[in-house]
Amino acid sequence: MIPVSRSFPATRMRRMRRDDFSRRLMREHTLTADDLIYPVFVLEGERREEPVVSMPGVVRQSLDRLLATAEEAVKLGIPALALFPVIESGKTLDGMEACNPEGLVPTVVRTLKREFPQLGVITDGALDPYTSHGQDGVIDEHGYVLNDITTEILVKQALCHAEAGVDMVAPSDMMDGRIGALRQALEAHGHIHTRIFSYAAKYASAFYGPFRDAVGSAGNLGKADKKTYQMDPANSDEALHEVAMDLAEGADLVMVKPGLPYLDVIRRVKDQFGVPTFAYQVSGEYAMLKAAAQNGWLDERACMLESLLAFKRAGADGVLTYFALDAARALRG
Ligand code: PBG
Repeated sequence: MIPVSRSFPATRMRRMRRDDFSRRLMREHTLTADDLIYPVFVLEGERREEPVVSMPGVVRQSLDRLLATAEEAVKLGIPALALFPVIESGKTLDGMEACNPEGLVPTVVRTLKREFPQLGVITDGALDPYTSHGQDGVIDEHGYVLNDITTEILVKQALCHAEAGVDMVAPSDMMDGRIGALRQALEAHGHIHTRIFSYAAKYASAFYGPFRDAVGSAGNLGKADKKTYQMDPANSDEALHEVAMDLAEGADLVMVKPGLPYLDVIRRVKDQFGVPTFAYQVSGEYAMLKAAAQNGWLDERACMLESLLAFKRAGADGVLTYFALDAARALRG
């Protein structure tokens, strides 16, 4: 006998979760290769490839090797590479090597755009690979990074990258007013199509450690930090202020960095501004996942894809990630 007043849940959420077909139908977010930007470390010289010890699976490579990496990225449908140079000689107090039209970055940009015109190329706007002290700009006698002098050099650097044919310049330095200065200079020199990808909300994070090993700025920086220009991890209203200013000054895309610990900031930026918004899953986040996977403590493939999907759910349009090639391969099945 069926009891007359048998109680049952008014809504059974599990009904839609029961089968793969209905899970697929109600899926809200998807991750594809189109969402990925691959950061790469480039070395001077030829036939060189060095592992980055604190980032298993990531290498520093010379241009000839990088071309094979770029070809792989194109095959996998990854829209763009973000270039980070490893400068081994010629570091100075003011980092002027950053503005050398025959320097490493412009040379790599010219070659990549010639060989793979369809692949987007993004360059980093900051002086830390080029300065003898490892800061992102020019410092005074107290080690304080000078805003306006640094911005002038960043403008020269960006023009030099634009002349070489870069698609997007991505200032990661956090100087005040640099987006406006860059936009004006690019327009004045006829580079109206060069996009500005602003590291708008970049935090003074301890998760950048392995990157500083990779580009060799860690030793130069020593015990110094970047708290006078990068944001305090305690703040998120301030991130909205930063993004508002960068957009007003002419940024085409904005970034929140680091990634996973700052998903709340991504969501707030996307809700408030509705502009192309990106996350940087930084070196330390990559290192954590890799290390746990290498110990057999986490399923690398599953955690990689879950972490990347989380950025989409938070509102990001895409992610800079050292997992880009692996993720694109995994998404192919
Ligand atoms: C420097 C720069 C950093 C990163 C990208 N550009 C490090 C820093 O600000 O010290 C970090 C990227 C990563 O950790 O993956 N302008």
